[in-house]
Amino acid sequence: MANEFYVTGAQRGERVGDLFATIAPRYDLMNDLQSFGLHRYWKRRLVAWADMRSGQRALDVCCGTGDIAFGLARRGALVVGVDFSEAMLSIAEGRRRKAERRRGAREAEGDAGSGRQALTPESGGSATLNPQFVHGDAQQLSFPNDWFDVVTIGYGLRNLASWEAGLREMQRVVKPGGRLLVLDFGKPDHALWRGLYFSYLRLGVPVLGWLFSGSAGAYAYILESLRHFPPQRGIAARMEQLGLVEVRTCNLLGGVMGLSTGRKAN
Ligand SMILES: C[S@@+](CC[C@H](N)C(=O)[O-])C[C@H]1O[C@@H](n2cnc3c(N)ncnc32)[C@H](O)[C@@H]1O
Repeated sequence: MANEFYVTGAQRGERVGDLFATIAPRYDLMNDLQSFGLHRYWKRRLVAWADMRSGQRALDVCCGTGDIAFGLARRGALVVGVDFSEAMLSIAEGRRRKAERRRGAREAEGDAGSGRQALTPESGGSATLNPQFVHGDAQQLSFPNDWFDVVTIGYGLRNLASWEAGLREMQRVVKPGGRLLVLDFGKPDHALWRGLYFSYLRLGVPVLGWLFSGSAGAYAYILESLRHFPPQRGIAARMEQLGLVEVRTCNLLGGVMGLSTGRKAN
């Protein structure tokens, strides 16, 4: 059966935007419920693989409510999160303000740094906050070539009209020697495990979506979009075609999730 939120071609972005506008208020809760909290661990794995040094620049594409951006910032990176959904960005921004208030309270007690840094080319020397959340399209990033030390995307590439265009943009804005990281739903090789997991995505996840966020269709979209998305080794193969080196993939939970990384050659 066709999914109301999945279309191909020029309308894709609009429908995906509608989807995230619908589910944004319950997005974080639903992530915890549908993954039994495991998405937090998978995102921590991505952040660990990013292996950022303090002061390095990171871009988190399709940042949503900001989990990965906050994780990278906690490692000392100067982080920009980019997303095209105002609804998702406003939640990320609310989280950042809350964290900033907590930091302010600690500073008042005299035990924290200022946390104010210049992150984007536009912000130049002016003080901005970390992470910085900006509106933008993953397929046409508004950053110069070779700008970031690390570029990440979690559960975003699958939603683009052209995931290849998204990956090319990530490769364009990362510095030579810098690293790309892609985390998304995967396709387990083991047929039985894949069958069980796809059944959960087809039945369990939409029921949870209906119960807790009022939309079964928005969550049935996950399986529909995954059907049109390559398995994790397909992402890794495209990274190699783009000229990335040291490409590797990690299968999480038997391939239910795929984490792929590659380095832009010097
Ligand atoms: C499933 S969420 C992932 C959010 C976050 N990275 C996480 O892991 O929780 C996908 C995000 O991609 C964003 N998105 C989809 N297509 C986009 C595009 N073309 N440009 C920018 N953001 C996009 C959506 O607005 C949404 O916030």
